[in-house]
Amino acid sequence: MKRAIVPGTFDPMTSGHLDIIERAAALFEELVVGVALSPEKGGGPLFEVEERVSLIERSVPHLPNVSVQPFDTLLVEFAHFVEASVIVKGLRAVTDFEREFQMAALNWRLDADVETMFIMAVPEYMYLSSSAVREIARHGGSVRGLVPGHVADALETKLKNAR
Ligand code: PNS
Repeated sequence: MKRAIVPGTFDPMTSGHLDIIERAAALFEELVVGVALSPEKGGGPLFEVEERVSLIERSVPHLPNVSVQPFDTLLVEFAHFVEASVIVKGLRAVTDFEREFQMAALNWRLDADVETMFIMAVPEYMYLSSSAVREIARHGGSVRGLVPGHVADALETKLKNAR
């Protein structure tokens, strides 16, 4: 059976992430969305890892072959842990390429048995990122359409409580 992982920080999940997960789920028999704790990211993620996992789980009830798990190890170790042989990453604008190329090369150096594959983002989500979504929401802008509805609600609640 071909099992793949879609890893990321997902702080929070965007419509672009969901699009990549849906397209990867159509290509593999099983797909594990790996949510990295990423405590080192810019002062720490806005959402706790359990919240990020839950927001993704609530976005994928229509995808029976998708599961969601947190991880705090090397990505290639997590791949072995869930018995996945492929890492699937979304690729947006050319600005992603340098970082993704570096991560793919390092992961290959760490474990050549785990293959990295890229799925191009659709033009609609080419410039969409979790950090842009957080920034828009922080300034009171609307993120409807950029994230699933329940993620927009969670962002609103989180930022209201943070004030
Ligand atoms: O959504 P992100 O923040 O771009 O995802 C980055 C992620 C979580 C995929 C990356 O930071 C990662 O793989 N972290 C696990 C630690 C690891 O394996 N690092 C070495 C690969 S360069």
